[in-house]
Amino acid sequence: MKDYYILAIETSCDETSVSIIKNGHYDISTVTFSQIDIHQQYGGVVPEIASRNHLEKITLVLERAILQAGLKLNEIDAFAVTYGPGLVGSLLIGVQAAKILSFIYQKPLLGVNHLVGHIYASRLENEFNFPLLALIVSGGHTELIYMEHDYHFYKIGGTLDDAVGETYDKVARMMGLSYPGGPMIDSLASSGNDTYDLPLPLDDASFNFSFSGLKSAVANLINQERKKGHDIRKSDLASSFQKRVVTVLVKKTMHAIVKYKAKQLVLAGGVAANKKLRLELIKACQSLKVELLLPSFKYCTDNAAMIGVAAYYGLKNKLKNNPHLDVCSTSSFDG
Ligand code: KG4
Ligand code: ZN
Repeated sequence: MKDYYILAIETSCDETSVSIIKNGHYDISTVTFSQIDIHQQYGGVVPEIASRNHLEKITLVLERAILQAGLKLNEIDAFAVTYGPGLVGSLLIGVQAAKILSFIYQKPLLGVNHLVGHIYASRLENEFNFPLLALIVSGGHTELIYMEHDYHFYKIGGTLDDAVGETYDKVARMMGLSYPGGPMIDSLASSGNDTYDLPLPLDDASFNFSFSGLKSAVANLINQERKKGHDIRKSDLASSFQKRVVTVLVKKTMHAIVKYKAKQLVLAGGVAANKKLRLELIKACQSLKVELLLPSFKYCTDNAAMIGVAAYYGLKNKLKNNPHLDVCSTSSFDG
């Protein structure tokens, strides 16, 4: 059978990424330009600067990806791109690039939801076994998704306010750490202890999450300690904060696995790189005898490979060529 090549583009936030995926599984080439260094000085992503950088880099990243794959653009069978959710100006650069390629080479244009991409990152390295549950923990989203089949998504819960990654980044900023704060809190926490008294956020029977109260509790704690003239023990605060977040994520996810009789748990999104979360999920899934799919670190944060894989399985289901594809900053979980 002839090989099927998808060229995928991801520009929803601050990574310009292009991948070529062979037969839905093989990442034969991924080139990613990260803008983290550029945004670090502002303490977060500046949308205008992000889109300008995508525009500057997209052609170069595309050229490198195709060169690395040893292919020519006319050998690509379909062009996939993230259409949302994300920053409009950033999404537009990727969508325009994919539209032009699809028009020139007369191949399908496939729009992929960024969150669906995060889930399918695990499919690069593992098979899915349905029904499964996906826990998406990224900078902009925290969602529990039930999947009975490929490319069918049912949201059973999500955050009522801040996303997990966003909370990590904001708490890190309060602690004087640089952007993105998630990885910094993760590594600080490993040398600290859970000594600070913080609340367990939205510890109820629902599958929803709420992290803004925990974020405010950290802000109050820092202010009170400062007033008393005490220094914050950063490692201990990182450890205490992380313990609350991971405890509630693991507890609710395990309840959902039991209720929905899921055979697998797929961890997805940038916070899937968190060592403590990975460790606690391994233990909890072992005790429930549920298979846990953890993406490799390189597939946790934003990358185009996950978009290419999602497009491949989308094509086998309900995803169609859409030459009029538009961006959508807030696209809900529609697959
Ligand atoms: O999925 P992603 O690359 O972008 C979005 O789609 O939002 O996720 C980025 C988020 C950031 O908030 C970053 O701080 C967080 O993932 N993150 C982590 C870790 N690595 C990245 N959070 C906690 N622990 C980590 N090790
Ligand atoms: Zn993401």
